Amino acid sequence: IPEASRQMMEAHDLLKKFYHHLLVNTKEGQEALEYLLGRGFTSETIEKFQIGYALDSWDFVYKFLTKRGYTDDILEKAGLIIFRDRDEKYFDRFRNRVMFPIMDHQGNTIAFSGRALGDDEPKYLNSPETPIFNKSQVLYNFNNARPHIRKKEQVVLFEGFADCISAVRAGVENAVATMGTALTDLHLKLIKRNTDHVLICYDSDSAGLAAANRAANMLAEAGFQVKASVMPDGLDPDDYIKKYGEKSFISDVIGSSLTYMAFKMQYLRKGKNLNNEGERIHYIEEVLSEISHLPNAVERDHYLRQLSSEFSLSLDALEQQQRKIFFAEK
Ligand code: UTP
Ligand code: MN
Ligand code: MN
Ligand code: MN
Ligand code: MN
Repeated sequence: IPEASRQMMEAHDLLKKFYHHLLVNTKEGQEALEYLLGRGFTSETIEKFQIGYALDSWDFVYKFLTKRGYTDDILEKAGLIIFRDRDEKYFDRFRNRVMFPIMDHQGNTIAFSGRALGDDEPKYLNSPETPIFNKSQVLYNFNNARPHIRKKEQVVLFEGFADCISAVRAGVENAVATMGTALTDLHLKLIKRNTDHVLICYDSDSAGLAAANRAANMLAEAGFQVKASVMPDGLDPDDYIKKYGEKSFISDVIGSSLTYMAFKMQYLRKGKNLNNEGERIHYIEEVLSEISHLPNAVERDHYLRQLSSEFSLSLDALEQQQRKIFFAEK
């Protein structure tokens, strides 16, 4: 590791400890702590994930870290302070936010995501890309989850930090989250070294379902065994756990995951009126296209039969059409 990167990680580590101290031990952190406890975070999860609080100050971090010998240049490149031309001064990037430290796969602290306590925008403010932080290759909680991913031979993929943390608390220790971006090839490589089974557990609002659909395509294409869980009423996993409890989350969401094709069929059905002939035919074409992507002939046969019986169509015709789509898409 280059010396500059080592210093950046060390500065992040110091700051993580101080943010955490501010949250759990000080009067200044009390409102943030109450916010977290009110959302259902426990002292145990706050410890485990080293959650903290950034003071409502323009230069607390700047002073705290320069006093310890870090140069302006290092701190700016680490994304912790920002230079403001207007008054030619450095000021802290994160102010008055709940701080989630981001660890790399060796457990080094390499970035932060800060959540607003109220309705401030953005809801989550993330560290920028830096020499030590590349969003497209980091999965939140991967360092804790790795042994569990290997043991359970599966990773569970979430959209948000809060979802990942609540899932871990509920016992889903093989949980990781992307950093508010789409899944990348680098994420897939990282996962592939540990398992080829992925359960997608994104938010069940329309944005989340669309993202889950894209992730499912990407993962299937890369040869993963893909499953997906869907929750009612557009809930996200954290909301679901709050509303229905951890037990129900484990059995009715994680334990009732859909196969790739079942998820696809449910997704493609959404918003279509299958009593309408045109929409029904469109749906069948889309499902046939999905079926033609399946590498396993037995699975293809299974879903063709399912379509045939649901829509009273001849298996022969469906098979023919599916082959046509397969060769057209090749
Ligand atoms: P969501 O909007 O679903 O937030 O974004 P959430 O995780 O449910 O957050 P809470 O429960 O309101 O606290 C999902 C993820 O997208 C990224 C974050 O990683 C978030 O966890 N995100 C979202 C950002 O990076 N910035 C934002 O302003 C919003
Ligand atoms: Mn396998
Ligand atoms: Mn969302
Ligand atoms: Mn969400
Ligand atoms: Mn949420």
